[in-house]
Amino acid sequence: MRTGYAISLIFSWSLTASASSHFTLKDNFVGWDFFDSWKWETMDDPTHGRVNYVDLPTAQHANLTYVTDSTFVMRADHTTKVAPQARGRDSIRISSIASYNDAVIVLDMAHMPEGARCDQIVVTQGDTPTSNECDASANSNTGCGVSLSNGASFGGPLNDRGGGVFVTRKTRAHGVQTWFWGQDDPSMPPEIRAGASSIEPGSGWGQPSASFPMDDCEYDSHFNAHQMVFDLTFCGDWAGSAFATSGCGPGTCEDLVNDHPEEFKGAYWTINAVRVYTPDPASNTLLGFLALT
Ligand SMILES: *[C@@H]1O[C@H](CO)[C@@H](O)[C@H](O)[C@H]1NC(C)=O
Repeated sequence: MRTGYAISLIFSWSLTASASSHFTLKDNFVGWDFFDSWKWETMDDPTHGRVNYVDLPTAQHANLTYVTDSTFVMRADHTTKVAPQARGRDSIRISSIASYNDAVIVLDMAHMPEGARCDQIVVTQGDTPTSNECDASANSNTGCGVSLSNGASFGGPLNDRGGGVFVTRKTRAHGVQTWFWGQDDPSMPPEIRAGASSIEPGSGWGQPSASFPMDDCEYDSHFNAHQMVFDLTFCGDWAGSAFATSGCGPGTCEDLVNDHPEEFKGAYWTINAVRVYTPDPASNTLLGFLALT
């Protein structure tokens, strides 16, 4: 029996043609925006994790979410045992109400989930995709996930450094690339650190830590969803099929989730901001003009 848990951050949205390399800040989600502009979902976990996604009032009441003017926290329950017949451990799944075509998403965080014995998010330099197949229906909902990390840049050690920033570019022209920098990494591009209103992805950013070029995925047929999704899930498809697993001690992942709430103390995100950049309007204007003639 495979054990382990995974924390997933899934970005997917549809794509339209745009060749611009400049991107302009369109949405900047900070603090309370996550209550107002995101949908709090309560469905069964599509990746079959041992979680019970709760709505916003329930999450607030249990302090599974917490906001200030400058931060947003979301976490899984870490105080109660879960009955075997229950849907799973109380947790959170949110999706953006806005949808995006070509975009660059900046996830600026101060803390990412850590701590349970079965933390499986593993990668080294030149991070490898967990799957080359981008069709969620073909691979147990793993989609085009990336599994990033190495000892020094993920989980607990990353949190000790104040967190970090993931930047994902998803465009028809370039496919999907992800860059990552720790908050204390001097090579983080200044426009990313500053949350600049305009950015030029790739320029002076170094090699992306993960890349899914166009030819590996047929974009129009695979990227048909439109929102960003955040969730915090345990066991299920991500742990079972996307991550190599190692010894987690006795028992199954389900046993760990049910009987050991204390293992989930560190299972929370503290988000400074999610910034969404879209291609420079100039290029869209041009495309619009061409379409009319
Ligand atoms: C709720 O969670 C936040 C963030 O983790 C924490 O700072 C705060 O003290 C908690 N409030 C209560 C009442 O436990």
